[in-house]
Amino acid sequence: MEQSVYAAAECRYENGMKYVRCGRSGIELPAISLGLWHNFGSIDNYDNARKIAHCAFDNGITCFDLANNYGPEYGSAEENFGRIMDDSFRKYRDELFITTKAGYDMWPGPYGNWGSRKYLISSLDQSLKRMKIEYVDLFYSHRYDPSTPLEETLQALVDIVRSGKALYIGISNYPQEKLDFTFSYLKSHDTPCLIYQGRYNMIDRHVVESGILNSCVDSGVGFTAFSPLAQGLLTDRYLNGVPAQSRMARNCFLKKDVLTEELVDRIKKLNQIAAERSQTLSAMALSWLLKDGLVTSVLVGVSSPEQLMANIKAVGNTSFSMEELSAIDELLKS
Ligand SMILES: NC(=O)c1ccc[n+]([C@@H]2O[C@H](COP(=O)([O-])OP(=O)(O)OC[C@H]3O[C@@H](n4cnc5c(N)ncnc54)[C@H](OP(=O)(O)O)[C@@H]3O)[C@@H](O)[C@H]2O)c1
Repeated sequence: MEQSVYAAAECRYENGMKYVRCGRSGIELPAISLGLWHNFGSIDNYDNARKIAHCAFDNGITCFDLANNYGPEYGSAEENFGRIMDDSFRKYRDELFITTKAGYDMWPGPYGNWGSRKYLISSLDQSLKRMKIEYVDLFYSHRYDPSTPLEETLQALVDIVRSGKALYIGISNYPQEKLDFTFSYLKSHDTPCLIYQGRYNMIDRHVVESGILNSCVDSGVGFTAFSPLAQGLLTDRYLNGVPAQSRMARNCFLKKDVLTEELVDRIKKLNQIAAERSQTLSAMALSWLLKDGLVTSVLVGVSSPEQLMANIKAVGNTSFSMEELSAIDELLKS
């Protein structure tokens, strides 16, 4: 079937998307960004992936979040994104904020994992080829490597920016106790950390409890929240069992045993609170993250344009009453 030529919606910046300044930097990011961890791999339907990407950009989502090993197969989400660049997005390159990462298992042997200079630099070279772009807007060290001197990892990030292959750098999943050193090393080498990317949702509040989010705010570093819907738990997806095409049914990242009767009962009650706010549960979960301006952008994953449209509505309703906040906290207390 012949593919139609894509032209971005002319109203893409007037559709209600909000842009939030990323820490103390010149960059603004959309309150909602699109993550390509799932649904963009070689096992997925390319036309659907392309439709999701179009839907995102048409609605003001400028930030697309990738990593070297997103797929499956590893690398295939970047390859499919490269195809979308060719098919649709090339002429909009300067309107896009494209991010990728290296830090987890990617290729065999000692140089395809963790945080060495060799791994980070060669992985980014591979990512650029797969995505068919000359530079990424931001490159992340995907996780802290306890066996590599932190200076080596950070200097590789600095040098990546100096080489022109990334405009900014960020870190993900780093422990709180490494943040002071990391932020000050990068700043003193004229390459301040733009973003910390961490898991944050109504159920998992580790980044708040550990002080990570506060450290970012205090240091002028932006914060992007991954798995903001707890991989789909904070939506209506699992209210009545496990649908055949859902993430829980399809892969091992969201295990069926987390879905206890007790959790389903809590999700149903959250769904009720959302309905009373005239929101879907997914929109409320995202609004909750955006409520106090500490989170720069929430990185959602979606398996359809319809899910994305439902999630974007979160941006229009980010105030919560004290009663709503305590009802949510009470429900999610472990
Ligand atoms: N830095 C890191 O270590 C790290 C780790 C994980 C993720 N990330 C980034 O964060 C992004 C998002 O993570 P995530 O995919 O776990 O995010 P998520 O937004 O918490 O979960 C996405 C899943 O929720 C379901 N969903 C989304 N919107 C829905 C709606 N409106 N109604 C019903 N179900 C809905 C879909 O599941 P179904 O597939 O069942 O439809 C979707 O695949 C990733 O793509 C990646 O870019 C980074």
